[in-house]
Amino acid sequence: MKIAILPGDGIGPEITAQAVKVLNALGERFEMDTAEVGGAGYAAHGHPLPDSTLKLAKDADAVLFGAVGDYKYDGLERALRPEQAILGLRRELGLFANLRPAILYPELAGASTLKPEVVSGLDILIIRELTGDIYFGKPRGVRECPDGPFKGQREGFDTMRYAEGEIRRIAHVAFQAALKRDKRVTSVDKANVLETGQFWRDIVTDVHKEYAGVELDHMYVDNAAMQLVRAPKKFDVLVTGNMFGDILSDAAAMLTGSIGMLPSASLDANNKGLYEPSHGSAPDIAGQGVANPLATILSAAMMLRFTFGLTEQADRIDNAVKRVLAQGLRTPDIHEAGSTRVGTEEMGNAVVAALG
Ligand code: NAI
Ligand code: MG
Repeated sequence: MKIAILPGDGIGPEITAQAVKVLNALGERFEMDTAEVGGAGYAAHGHPLPDSTLKLAKDADAVLFGAVGDYKYDGLERALRPEQAILGLRRELGLFANLRPAILYPELAGASTLKPEVVSGLDILIIRELTGDIYFGKPRGVRECPDGPFKGQREGFDTMRYAEGEIRRIAHVAFQAALKRDKRVTSVDKANVLETGQFWRDIVTDVHKEYAGVELDHMYVDNAAMQLVRAPKKFDVLVTGNMFGDILSDAAAMLTGSIGMLPSASLDANNKGLYEPSHGSAPDIAGQGVANPLATILSAAMMLRFTFGLTEQADRIDNAVKRVLAQGLRTPDIHEAGSTRVGTEEMGNAVVAALG
């Protein structure tokens, strides 16, 4: 069980250190190696995704990624910017499935902007296709408009495309994930308007035939956006394309109101994966020992669940996180009256102690 640890920039090193500590406390035999990525990669090797780092990530079964980015690299040309590392890793590792759970622990219900009765106990999983759709479809560009009332003017255009195999593989990820949860999948598209949308719906419906134990329903993306804020707890697994998933997953993340709590996984076809918190490198609080490490610790739990099939160990981590929250321990980002304020390191230690 080889894990590449890529801490990155800003709070990345502080938060990954806590997740590594938790992994080490489980008593499993993980082989962990660390390498620089992002701004740290640029500083050490002149590139945000150095060859040595990419090799380590390719040779590993899973990558634990902190975060990349720092304002001090804002002046660099695009190809050398820290954020290119994450795009490069997705591409090079073929990570096409992005899994983002949105969980609101009852203890943190006050952190959401939504009424507690609407979101308390929320536990949904958004699955976003990550390597296709209008973000990558060709042709694209700016050209002379060939027809219609604006003929002859400049126009920008992109192409929405999804190949059958691309839809099939993400549909399988969704149904497989649902089997480990509440066994319900909602597929989100725009079949009423888009050819790609109807095709998506037809293929997902076809893949569903292999999963008799899972319930499938379809929803248009505009309605899905509405339902996510109206009654988010009705969802179990929501699967959708790259663009709709980009938007819906950020909306779903904010239902919980606490960016420091949300893990994510990006998987390839063989359950190799890159696991990272949903937040960035938070340069504003880097080095102060106050960053919330729970999103990264929960990302490590996802790694155990999805790449290594260590369900019991993943549950141990998830339950330990619930326990420290129940004990009232809070980093500043989730602090509220009556709770105990702790730093990054103390929070990591508390999770280790709560593993049982
Ligand atoms: P951010 O997520 O880093 O920070 C947004 C706000 O949330 C800040 O106030 C920050 O202090 C707070 N925050 C984030 N994580 C936290 C944690 N674990 N505990 C406590 N507070 C936390 O997003 P922002 O400010 O837009 O971007 C900062 C840098 O991160 C940029 O360079 C950006 O490009 C990069 N970024 C990297 C990502 C990645 O590595 N996958 C994802 C998003 C942004
Ligand atoms: Mg986004």
